[in-house]
Amino acid sequence: MKSLHYTGSLQGTLSIPGDKSISHRSILFGAMANGVTTVEGFLQSDDCLSTIDCVRKFGVEVTVDDDQVTVNSQGIEEWNEPDSILYTGNSGTTTRLLAGVLASSEIATVMIGDESIQKRPMKRVTAPLKLMGASIIGRQDGNFTPLAIQGQTLQAIDYLMPVASAQVKSAILLAALRAQGTTHVTEQEQSRNHTEKMLQHFGVKVEQTANRISLEGGQKLTPAHIVVPGDISSAAFWLVASAITNGSHVILNNVGLNPTRDGIVEVLKEMGADLQIMAASSSSHEELGTLEIRSSTLKSTEISGDMIPRLIDEIPIIALLATQATGVTIIRDAEELKVKETNRIDAVVTELKKLGASIESTDDGMVITGPTPLNGGTITTYGDHRIGMMGAIASLISSEAIVLDNPECIAVSYPTFFDHLTELTTGSL
Ligand code: S3P
Repeated sequence: MKSLHYTGSLQGTLSIPGDKSISHRSILFGAMANGVTTVEGFLQSDDCLSTIDCVRKFGVEVTVDDDQVTVNSQGIEEWNEPDSILYTGNSGTTTRLLAGVLASSEIATVMIGDESIQKRPMKRVTAPLKLMGASIIGRQDGNFTPLAIQGQTLQAIDYLMPVASAQVKSAILLAALRAQGTTHVTEQEQSRNHTEKMLQHFGVKVEQTANRISLEGGQKLTPAHIVVPGDISSAAFWLVASAITNGSHVILNNVGLNPTRDGIVEVLKEMGADLQIMAASSSSHEELGTLEIRSSTLKSTEISGDMIPRLIDEIPIIALLATQATGVTIIRDAEELKVKETNRIDAVVTELKKLGASIESTDDGMVITGPTPLNGGTITTYGDHRIGMMGAIASLISSEAIVLDNPECIAVSYPTFFDHLTELTTGSL
């Protein structure tokens, strides 16, 4: 339990911690390569540490010194068969990406995760992998963990993605690396492309024409140096906090601005936020920049279609933003929210309603009418880090205290969140 209540504005400059998606991939790809991979700006969060725990079980050496990580591996061909079960914690990215890698490995493994992972659909990954010839067993015909995987030689596929999911796309591409033939993946809506970008950084040839990605099997990864940009999904909480809290002025350094991830920036601008973007030069293989935001009056918007994958993880905090905007905000085509760490349509609507927001769920999203003042109350996080952070940010504008039932869950993606909240609520530029 944690009780939060603030008056006053947010002021200060933050350096945003490393991107979760990119941090996972840096460890996994480093473990697949033969040699020493070094990572700068690694996010030391519970989820990314789950990926490290798993690759250590293959005999890969990983040393972590704050945000600097070294991965020393003899390559996936030399991975040891673990003598215990792989535990992926709360991490969908670890579970799904590893499923692709392990399906084409030479070892037998069993993977489980926490209560939330046990409920998340895995058939979206196991079905295409089985089309490639993978041997995977899981509850309900491979839809739920535990997953038992016997690695073997796979065949390339030509796959049309039924959902926009970078985890699924990545699992297929990672399996394709060791498959026979050239795999093609076609996306109907583009999901985050960190896997494609980082594989190229590890020396893999990945071709992309329009929405079709092609990868020829039999390619090995060359060790690399990775500079992880700050996570725009973490920055999003401060962007919204500053936009809705009167008198705020915040600068966020080191924010990843990959165009497949920056939907929140477009939405904030569309809603009238006072937001400046300064591109920054860096040695990262990903785009990054500095964001400067001040509070302002906000208007409602509509979000749907191919914008959804560009901000899928930001929808809980966008819903809070919409409670302070004038008019009716409509979020459509976001049914994927139902299969995140918790059902985020139900969780967001239930919890914001408790605080007095005017918000209703729909089959594929939500409708929010604003502006409404928010009361205090107890926020149930459902063990979901992004619901927890949404509740914490609401406490900046609520009339009474907000109590989080499980603040610890925030460490899944943002272990220093409460330190940063204190910095900005007591700070100056
Ligand atoms: C992620 C992809 C997205 C996102 C998740 C991280 C990734 O999930 O919601 O937080 O690292 O590839 P989906 O692939 O299920 O859309």
